[in-house]
Amino acid sequence: MSAKIIDGKAFAADVRGRVAEQVARLKADHGITPGLAVVLVGEDPASQVYVRNKGKQTVEAGMTSFEHKLGDTTPEADLLALVEKLNADPAVHGILVQLPLPDHIDEAKVLATIDPAKDVDGFHISNVGLLATGQKALVPCTPLGCLMMLRDHHGSLSGLNAVVVGRSNIVGKPMAQLLLRDSCTVTIAHSRTKDLAAVCRGADILVAAVGRPQMIPGDWVKPGATVIDVGINRIPAPEKGEGKTRLVGDVDFDSAVEVAGAITPVPGGVGPMTIACLLANTLTACCRAAGLPEPEGLTA
Ligand code: GUN
Repeated sequence: MSAKIIDGKAFAADVRGRVAEQVARLKADHGITPGLAVVLVGEDPASQVYVRNKGKQTVEAGMTSFEHKLGDTTPEADLLALVEKLNADPAVHGILVQLPLPDHIDEAKVLATIDPAKDVDGFHISNVGLLATGQKALVPCTPLGCLMMLRDHHGSLSGLNAVVVGRSNIVGKPMAQLLLRDSCTVTIAHSRTKDLAAVCRGADILVAAVGRPQMIPGDWVKPGATVIDVGINRIPAPEKGEGKTRLVGDVDFDSAVEVAGAITPVPGGVGPMTIACLLANTLTACCRAAGLPEPEGLTA
């Protein structure tokens, strides 16, 4: 039997719609417009695309978008000064410094300078610690998007066996913390895990976030499991013509879809949820700054 396909594009559109509704209410009732500042250093083409999409979707949600584009030789001190300025600006409720940064800039130092209350990426060590100790944090956007999809599909996640393959700070570790908070039994697996196939086969929820194309085959998936594929990998696609490529996940979709109960496709699964959750986090940060209740259904 074929799995239910979890439509991340439709889900993300719904999240953006709910954000826009609550932004409109915030404006009407309190005269507040959430603002998101995005800082891009250098000319990385993929980052430029991300930043453009973020700006567009921010404005579509009724928020103010502030874009700061700095040259790739910008001194670290100038970037830190800009972050401090954004920290102090009351019209800015969320700050995102696009990664990766050029080699001469200390990424950890930059992330540590962002006001944790405006850290809509959830990368500041304070937010990492708050999440790990079960307190109110801003949480990284991609794992938040995965959690929303899982809650929507399962209702309660309590007692389910969750396996997260990948231990990055951006996805694997925060994903594991969020699943633990929803009372899953959580295993974090990685490149050194012994008998990864057997570990994956025990998962009711399998989250793949390793960045290796089609690494997880269908026979590693427990029948009926929910598979969340965070990977976005470009591989050659000679069937489309010479030099052509296509996007695939970390899971071998064609075999996994025959075994899983539900699965996210690539593209069109987790990917669109990241920016939607960035908007949700900006709204959350704005509500907290104003001392208003948290937006409904948009937080961890
Ligand atoms: N580069 C690619 N994705 C992201 C993201 O989600 N946040 C930041 N800050 N940089 C990124």
